[in-house]
Amino acid sequence: MLSKSLVIVAACATSLVRSAPLTLEERQAPAGVPDYVLKYAPIVYLHSDDEYCPTDLQTFLNHVTPRVDFNQVSGPSNPLTTSNLDQMGSDVWLTSNDDVTKNPQWIKGTKPDAKGKTNGATTAAIIVNDKGNGNVDAFYMYFYAYNYGGEVLGWSELNFGNHVGDWEHTMVRFLNGVPQSMWFSQHANGQAFTYTTVEKSGPRPIAYSSKGSHANYAIDGTHDHTIPNFNLPGGVLEDYTNKGVMWDPLLSAYYYKFDAASTSFTAYDGKAPTAWLNFKGRWGDKEYPTSDKRQRKLFGQAKFSGGPTGPANKQLNRSKICPDNGKLCILRRILVPRTAGDEEEIVGGEVV
Ligand SMILES: *[C@@H]1O[C@H](CO)[C@@H](O)[C@H](O)[C@H]1NC(C)=O
Repeated sequence: MLSKSLVIVAACATSLVRSAPLTLEERQAPAGVPDYVLKYAPIVYLHSDDEYCPTDLQTFLNHVTPRVDFNQVSGPSNPLTTSNLDQMGSDVWLTSNDDVTKNPQWIKGTKPDAKGKTNGATTAAIIVNDKGNGNVDAFYMYFYAYNYGGEVLGWSELNFGNHVGDWEHTMVRFLNGVPQSMWFSQHANGQAFTYTTVEKSGPRPIAYSSKGSHANYAIDGTHDHTIPNFNLPGGVLEDYTNKGVMWDPLLSAYYYKFDAASTSFTAYDGKAPTAWLNFKGRWGDKEYPTSDKRQRKLFGQAKFSGGPTGPANKQLNRSKICPDNGKLCILRRILVPRTAGDEEEIVGGEVV
């Protein structure tokens, strides 16, 4: 008789069991976090074939060395932790101890369980900026140890934009506790939508995290994207999203209040570390020089680019729903019925 064997091919392969997100009561957010920040918090769907899951912040720090121009610099006397990272300067790159082209296990992060929790791994940070008069922006910051970049025409030989460390976010803008609009980070920019038109699970908006790059989209399916300074025809470079693995970032997050006047963070529970938020350097390796055999340039883009700065650098006190980066801020609406993967449905909207 033949025996069947089950082979798990990807760390973030589709869960066999899919269950509803936990209720507000089942979640254990610290006291003081506004209830609407929890009630309307986005749910993230990871792509079913994404190998690179959300990652525990401390686990990441356990596998990197502070380097400036690839040279090791002395760190804190203790190992790097979320509580001493601010001792490192802004010129520091938290550089992988392993060759990431060998796909070490730790860069694959932690796959959420059936409830959407990354067990034993703190993979998100919720940052609340109360601007007064009922104006509150809640940032939902997502951390992945690795960003697998794009593939031109889907060819893995033409892959570029990989980097160690990947900070992504969504933001929900509230007025008097009522969600108004939502920002989805995507590569160098992103998209904004009215809260009423985004897809939801109950009251919670859904963000689709694209395979490898973790850009956040409002609609599942295939999304064209561009390379800065190159106008590529549609279909050349695409992000893929689907309802693969449900991740509820609230279940494994640190919660902070942000004070814009002093640019400081306070943990709601009085315990969550804040030092890591004050680290001004980069979460990941510096862009490898072309003399490095792993490196290649394509359309002027590096196969391995540099790691990102952290959450404090995401314009936490922005005036518009979009970050201020010289690009038009369009508040979009999604027409229903929505059919998977068709960007044409994202129509209308107004410049705000
Ligand atoms: C924060 O943003 C608000 C509203 O856009 C603005 O009035 C305030 O001056 C900003 N604070 C700082 C410290 O920039």
